[in-house]
Amino acid sequence: MSSTLSPIDKAKFAAAKQACSFVSSGMTVGLGTGSTAAWLVRCLGDMVRDEGLQIRGVPTSSRTAQLARDVGIDVISLDEAKWLDITIDGADEYDGSLNLIKGGGGALLQEKIVATASDQMVVIADISKQVETLGAFPLPVEVIPFGWQTTKTLIEETLIGMDVLGRTASLRMNGDSPFFTDEGNHILDLHLNRIGNARQLSLVINQIPGVVENGLFIDICDVVVIGYGDGRVEVRDINKGSVSESQIDFLEDENLFSDIAD
Ligand code: A5P
Repeated sequence: MSSTLSPIDKAKFAAAKQACSFVSSGMTVGLGTGSTAAWLVRCLGDMVRDEGLQIRGVPTSSRTAQLARDVGIDVISLDEAKWLDITIDGADEYDGSLNLIKGGGGALLQEKIVATASDQMVVIADISKQVETLGAFPLPVEVIPFGWQTTKTLIEETLIGMDVLGRTASLRMNGDSPFFTDEGNHILDLHLNRIGNARQLSLVINQIPGVVENGLFIDICDVVVIGYGDGRVEVRDINKGSVSESQIDFLEDENLFSDIAD
């Protein structure tokens, strides 16, 4: 039942539900990774089942691929799709220019490739993800396992010359072992506190040997859909310069909620 969901989950659901209005039959849709994106996949699965929505989904992680198949979405690879109409994904932070930090779930590489191969990227988030300046959330950087400690040292040395407030990196762990991405790489989380020039930092980090990709998404996101715990939703479109508001009714979705809550 909807009453069993926390306000933050209601906010995530509201954003995901509203973002479904960007999707129509015939589209190829990039399916993001994370708890907010999981709501989106469930909502789209409902539309496939109940409304005959016909879409092809390109997942951004093995987790999302499994969930999408489970809810009845036709899953294809990026190579099969080649180009997408839209990608809808969560974010760890977004700023006023809709630049993002992503990768808290460890899927930043596929997420960035898929979003970049899309006509439009829509981010779904609760209001807690909004920041004035990126960087409070540790910046994930995907690195190859070979020589990762040397890569970490090179990154930390490079940060000395950058406009950031913190300069340490930590290897992401999965229990007692290093975390591995779907591509078999590691993640270094950079504790920067504040990123003064995200565009420059992204370019510089990606020049370091051993780095595969970083979690800064610059000029990739077009729209952010912001959900609130009471069902309010705000849609900001950076290209149109527009802001619109609407309301999601939780009661209509009790079946979806009971699936999750049980
Ligand atoms: C996955 O790697 C991330 O980029 C997620 O999109 C991001 O961490 C947001 O996740 P939540 O929706 O769970 O907050």
